[in-house]
Amino acid sequence: MQNLQGRVAVITGAASGIGRGIALACGRHEMRLVVADVEADALAAVVAELNAAGCDATGVVTDVADRLQVDALAKSAFVRHGAVHLLCNNAGVIDDNLPSWECPPADWQWVLGVNLMGVVHGIEAFVPRMLASSEPGHIVNTASIGGLVTSTANTPYTVSKHAVLALSECLYKELEARQAPIGVSALCPGWVATGIADADRNRPEPRDLGEMEQVRRERLRSALGAGMAPGAVGELVLEAVQEGRFYIKTHPHWDHLIEERFAGILDGRRPAATRLPRE
Ligand SMILES: NC(=O)c1ccc[n+]([C@@H]2O[C@H](COP(=O)([O-])OP(=O)(O)OC[C@H]3O[C@@H](n4cnc5c(N)ncnc54)[C@H](O)[C@@H]3O)[C@@H](O)[C@H]2O)c1
Repeated sequence: MQNLQGRVAVITGAASGIGRGIALACGRHEMRLVVADVEADALAAVVAELNAAGCDATGVVTDVADRLQVDALAKSAFVRHGAVHLLCNNAGVIDDNLPSWECPPADWQWVLGVNLMGVVHGIEAFVPRMLASSEPGHIVNTASIGGLVTSTANTPYTVSKHAVLALSECLYKELEARQAPIGVSALCPGWVATGIADADRNRPEPRDLGEMEQVRRERLRSALGAGMAPGAVGELVLEAVQEGRFYIKTHPHWDHLIEERFAGILDGRRPAATRLPRE
């Protein structure tokens, strides 16, 4: 989808970090925007920022883990604008980094509910409407480098991102087989300086962190803090949409990690834990 000007974008998780970065980039490309997030005040601030920059933007408070709320988001975007051309299923959270056998069921439910089912709900609510409109379109699902490699950290998150990547590849093939005018991309960022280390600010039932979990969270904050600027990710996303690129990688200098994993699979080696570099 080369021409973005005047087209309609819907972005989930748009009140912070990468979602906000994509929204501001869409604004710079003079797109019309419907931005969604579970955090009402932060969402209102982003809408105000977009409006102040002269952008036609509205906010819809939405919990992507709730399929009825995502359906209501789609309805309101189509009622307001008559079409949606770019859908970014971006909202995401990260677990507290416990070994999988110690991870409480509520952690699995929260992370898979937002990261995976949020994308499923976006596809369910928007794709039929986008197909019916016959307008050109593009869907960007936010996965992660954690959808391409595995480590010893954040297992529910890693599982959710592998699932989002597989879902995105399947969706791409399904739409291509139908010759639908809708492209798909999977965004696979490395470290980006966002608020995701404190994702539990939006958790329905927050829980206290143990000492080790607090140490790990501090390490995550520090790695993220040295990461790429979210605004740069937003521009990369729109470039990929315009070029029709499927995989959007923010850290191509980490490609050797992906190569090592797949070479290990092909060679029948045991999985080696990947350590993500700081940059
Ligand atoms: N920051 C990184 O280094 C990095 C790397 C790879 C992938 N990602 C992915 O990028 C996406 C955005 O995360 P971020 O890093 O910008 O974090 P962030 O915390 O800055 O932004 C995430 C946004 O999602 C919103 N959100 C959380 N739960 C929600 C829900 N149930 N419904 C709707 N909105 C919800 C939050 O309120 C927040 O505004 C996530 O999918 C994340 O997994 C981030």
